[in-house]
Amino acid sequence: MQTALIVLAAGQGTRMNSDLPKVLHPLAGVPLLTHALRAGAALEPARTVIVAGHGAEAVSAAARAECSEGVIVVQQEQKGTAHAVAQAAPVLEGFSGDALVLYGDTPFIRAETLEAMRAARAEHDIVVLGFEAADPGRYGRLVMAGARLERIVEYKDASAVERAITLCNSGVLCADSATLMELVAAVGDDNEAGEYYLTDIVALARARGLSAGVVRCDESETLGVNSRAELAAAEAAFQARARAEAFENGVTLVAPETVHFALDSWVGRDSVIGPNVVFGPGVTVESGAEIRAFCHLEGCHISRGAVVGPFARLRPGAELAEDVRVGNFVEVKNAIIDEGAKVNHLSYIGDAHLGAGANIGAGTITCNYDGVSKHRTEIGAGAFIGSDTMLVAPVTVGEGAMTASGSVITRDVPEGALGLSRAPQENKPGFAARFFARLRGARTDSRGESGDS
Ligand code: UD1
Ligand code: CA
Repeated sequence: MQTALIVLAAGQGTRMNSDLPKVLHPLAGVPLLTHALRAGAALEPARTVIVAGHGAEAVSAAARAECSEGVIVVQQEQKGTAHAVAQAAPVLEGFSGDALVLYGDTPFIRAETLEAMRAARAEHDIVVLGFEAADPGRYGRLVMAGARLERIVEYKDASAVERAITLCNSGVLCADSATLMELVAAVGDDNEAGEYYLTDIVALARARGLSAGVVRCDESETLGVNSRAELAAAEAAFQARARAEAFENGVTLVAPETVHFALDSWVGRDSVIGPNVVFGPGVTVESGAEIRAFCHLEGCHISRGAVVGPFARLRPGAELAEDVRVGNFVEVKNAIIDEGAKVNHLSYIGDAHLGAGANIGAGTITCNYDGVSKHRTEIGAGAFIGSDTMLVAPVTVGEGAMTASGSVITRDVPEGALGLSRAPQENKPGFAARFFARLRGARTDSRGESGDS
């Protein structure tokens, strides 16, 4: 049977106190919404509908970036979760199969859990994902009759007895798509919040003789983000898991609590990550690489045996081949660095290709930007770039060529040649001695003292 995914992402998230829509707040380097979409994608949904509202344009852009085939519908006014689901009805008109509702603010649902819900549909018309909460707080409560779910009561509307229930609603539910749309259309707004609650469909379904059941998951999976404090707690939970996973995969983290991963970070076996290393999105590190302390990595690939840092910054498009060295205070962007090449100190390498074994001297800069466009620098295998070379792109330094330290290279340097561009040196005998004697003399005259502090 086919499954459609409905992801609710229209809410403002008032408690975030932010101009940014709640579902766009980043967790593990990517928007909360992206986490929800990835969880849902594991079901290989036939259709995905994202319900946007607050900041719809930005939310749509983030949704499309993750799920290009997703359909965005806009909920103009946020009248509640049932009203939000109803916005997906036109898109799912005629769809035959199940619909699974996910919340854009609930990032940790596992694929296995969603699979279990789909499987449980064989026994129930509506399947709700529930969890035993250590502190049920303001979550909706699941009112059971034996193994069957009778209804869901929102915290605001719950009696003292109902508030004592610890089995809570995650928000995730699954039902036949057409049935779900019929039910949400029947929901009213007669409650404390004056909202159309999706949770009301359970009682409506039971009244129609349909059955409802619960699949349980661990509380950690259903953590919903409603405030900055909850966002920080979610980030901490993600990082703890990512570090544990890195250990499982044979990675050494010298000071694990200071290493920050992104959702898609991948680090190979026997790699060593030093203290205070930050992984932005899109980083892959092969086996046996070393990332030393205080590096910031983003959108880059680091091959086997490469050593990066300390204090290096790799930006999107940085690709380091095997045994490359990128040292302290080096920034690399959109550059391919071939096997064994070295950029050890204080350099900017952007929009460039460094051939195998090339050696880039301290303070070298690829001047890639002319104020309007970016240009490429090409450095041949085995080239030797003297310290403090400015490579004014577009420019090519040939294989085995060299540049003289301090040169501003504006024209191509042929294979095996030396590129040199600096004013010739002149020595003036005795100049420094006379110069300082004069300055000191002037100072004594004006202060009436001799000072050499
Ligand atoms: C909801 C559930 C509650 C459950 C909790 C789990 C309802 C009525 N309550 O409460 O039982 O325990 O989630 O985290 O469903 N949204 C829209 N349009 C709207 C309203 C909400 O798209 O008009 C979206 C929000 O952006 C959010 C999600 O739906 O992603 C949940 O809404 P939220 O207001 O956070 O619901 P809770 O009060 O947390
Ligand atoms: Ca919520």
